[in-house]
Amino acid sequence: MNDRLETRVTRMLGIRYPIVQSGLARIAGAELAAAVSEAGAIGQISTVGLDGPDELRSEIRKARSLTRAPFGVNFPLGRADIAAMLDAALEARVALIAFTAGNPAPWIRRCEGSGARILVLTAGPELARKAEAAGADIVACVGFEGGGHLGRTEETTLVMVPRIVDAVRIPVLASGGIADGRGLLAALAMGAEGVEMGTRFVATTEARAHDAYKRALCAAEPEGTVVIKRSLGTPGRVLRSPYVQHVAALEAAGASAEELLPLIAGSVNALAVQEGHLNQGYVWAGQSVGLIREVEPAGEVVRRTVQQALAYLARLRGMTREAEIEVERT
Ligand SMILES: Cc1cc2nc3c(=O)[nH]c(=O)nc-3n(C[C@H](O)[C@H](O)[C@H](O)COP(=O)(O)O)c2cc1C
Repeated sequence: MNDRLETRVTRMLGIRYPIVQSGLARIAGAELAAAVSEAGAIGQISTVGLDGPDELRSEIRKARSLTRAPFGVNFPLGRADIAAMLDAALEARVALIAFTAGNPAPWIRRCEGSGARILVLTAGPELARKAEAAGADIVACVGFEGGGHLGRTEETTLVMVPRIVDAVRIPVLASGGIADGRGLLAALAMGAEGVEMGTRFVATTEARAHDAYKRALCAAEPEGTVVIKRSLGTPGRVLRSPYVQHVAALEAAGASAEELLPLIAGSVNALAVQEGHLNQGYVWAGQSVGLIREVEPAGEVVRRTVQQALAYLARLRGMTREAEIEVERT
């Protein structure tokens, strides 16, 4: 079976399938990135939680010991140690550098001439156009059903993707709510040239997350996620828990940033992700939890996603053939 799904994104990155594993903060290490890339998609190592450039170099070396396929490194902006870690990633000649949560323009300039492809995560046509003008090679757009940080407009993936496809000339990745082959095919049908999946890859054997977190994702329904941090201007979707309900109630009651920030600190997230104390912290998760029922190897997720997209594509082709026959009969 010819199972290639070729787009500008696959050609640009030298990969087989247009699936990008999100830069999952504190969760996406060398093992996950390598497993995704080895299966023909592309994984990313997250820099969140790493101790600095030496630890990043060691993650890159580890990923290279597990796969010869290209992978990326993900940089949420606004942290103090970005420059040194970015230089380490560029020196190591990784295939993909991704920026999110901040103005990527100065950092894209720093990557010039490195040979790395630049992905920028956005949440609206205006930001996508700015990323294109700044030199991004690919933009990913995340709709409001997604896990982690979201745009402020609450625009969902189904509306945002075609709007961004119309707004830029560079290839677009659809993100937010995509966890299987139907989502991949729908994204391609809307003009996206691939998808970025986050929550789906947390529930994999290679993800550096506590089993309790992975199991909770498999058990959750979409209404088991909730958006917090709206009052701070940085909305993010997390898994519902008594802890999160408490934070949401404080926000609704008008709590100040000083009151909220200690409750939503990265260290609180780290504790829940790594120790599995889901009631003493918060973990990111998208509505796509409703499509995830099993913790699986990441490579298996990639293979099944592609096979399902192709099966549904064949079904659509069947529909158009039937339509042609109908037309001939009339
Ligand atoms: C656990 C988790 C951690 C995330 N951390 C990051 C991150 O560090 N950098 C980033 O670019 N996006 C991050 N995201 C957001 C994803 O890039 C993406 O927008 C989102 O996962 C898409 O929605 P989905 O979860 O339904 O696939 C994270 C998402 C999740 C679920």
